[in-house]
Amino acid sequence: MARLCEDRVAIVTGAARGVGREHALLLAKHGAKIVVNDLGGAVDGTGADKSQAQLVAEEIIAAGGEAVVNGDDVSSWNGAKNMIDQAVDTFGKLDILVNNAGILRDRMLVNMTEEEWDSVIQVHLKGTFAPARHAAAYWRVRSKETDGPVNGRIINTSSTSGIYGNVGQTNYGAAKAGIAAFTIIAARELRRIGVTVNAISPTAYTRMTDSLREYTEEEIEIRDPRWVSPTVVYLASEAAHDITGRVIQAGAGQVAVCEGWRRGAEIEQMADPEALGSRIREMCGQVRKNSGMDGFELD
Ligand SMILES: NC(=O)c1ccc[n+]([C@@H]2O[C@H](COP(=O)([O-])OP(=O)(O)OC[C@H]3O[C@@H](n4cnc5c(N)ncnc54)[C@H](O)[C@@H]3O)[C@@H](O)[C@H]2O)c1
Repeated sequence: MARLCEDRVAIVTGAARGVGREHALLLAKHGAKIVVNDLGGAVDGTGADKSQAQLVAEEIIAAGGEAVVNGDDVSSWNGAKNMIDQAVDTFGKLDILVNNAGILRDRMLVNMTEEEWDSVIQVHLKGTFAPARHAAAYWRVRSKETDGPVNGRIINTSSTSGIYGNVGQTNYGAAKAGIAAFTIIAARELRRIGVTVNAISPTAYTRMTDSLREYTEEEIEIRDPRWVSPTVVYLASEAAHDITGRVIQAGAGQVAVCEGWRRGAEIEQMADPEALGSRIREMCGQVRKNSGMDGFELD
C-alpha cells in the first residue's frame, strides 16, 4: 500500500469516535502526524471529556505513528486558533484540516427551540468556519514565505440531510447545506495559494445514527465508518491537488460525486404575478424535483 500522506500534518476534529476516529487512524496509517481534536461531549453536544480522544492518540502511537490530543471546542474562535497553533508548535507545520466534529438536536420545525437551532448551527457551521479561517491565514503566510503552492487541504463534512433535505433536521440540514456552499466558495478563494477545499457527505453506523432504525449485521458492516475514510485520505494527499470545490458522498457501499444547484427552465421577466405564476407552474413541471434523502419528492 502506498503511503499517501507521508510526513504530512493533519488535524481531525471530532476524532474521538465514529467517522473522525477512522479518518485519524487511516491518515496516520498513511504517514500523517495527527492532532486528535475532540471536546468529548454527548451526541447533543453537552458535556466534555478528553479520554476518548486520548485513546485514539494512544492507538496511533502504539501503531508507530505520531499524535497529540486537542480538547478545544471547534466552534470557539480562540479554541480553533489554539488548535492550529498546537499542530504547528508540535509538528512544525499544518497540511491538512479535516472538519468533522458535529452534534445533533433533531426536532420538527414547529417545536424547535432557539437553543436547539443555535447550538447545531454553532458547532457545524462556525465549527467549520473558525478552524478553516485560522488554517487559511496560516497557509497564506506560508505561501508568501515559500513563494509557491502550500499543498494545504481542507476537508469538510456535509450530509445528505443538507444536500437533499431530511425531515426533523432544519437546523442540521441548514448547517450542512451551508457547509457545502462554504466549501465551494472557500475552494475558489484558496485555490491561488495551493489549498484545496472539498466536503464529504458520509453514511456510517455511529452513535449518531445507530438509533434511527434496526440494522442487520450486514448493514452495520457496510456502514462501518472506516469505509468513509479512504476518500478523505486521498483528498488530503498531495496527489489530489487538482480536486477542489467538490462534495463527495462516501459510505454504505458507495462513493458518489454530487452535483450542486444549477439553473433549470427559465423565461423572460414578467410584471403580472398571475401570468407569471402560470409560467412558473409550467417550468416546475419541466425540471427535476428537489428530492429528499429518503426518496420523498416535494410537489
Ligand atoms: N454517521 C453518519 O451517517 C453521518 C451522516 C452524515 C453526516 N455525518 C457527519 O459526520 C460527522 C461525524 O459524525 P459521527 O457519525 O462520527 O458522530 P459522532 O457523534 O460519533 O462523532 C462526532 C464527534 O464530534 C465531537 N464534537 C462534537 N462537538 C464538538 C465540538 N464543538 N468540538 C470538538 N469536537 C466536537 C464529539 O465529541 C464526537 O466525538 C459529523 O459532522 C456528522 O454530522 C455523519
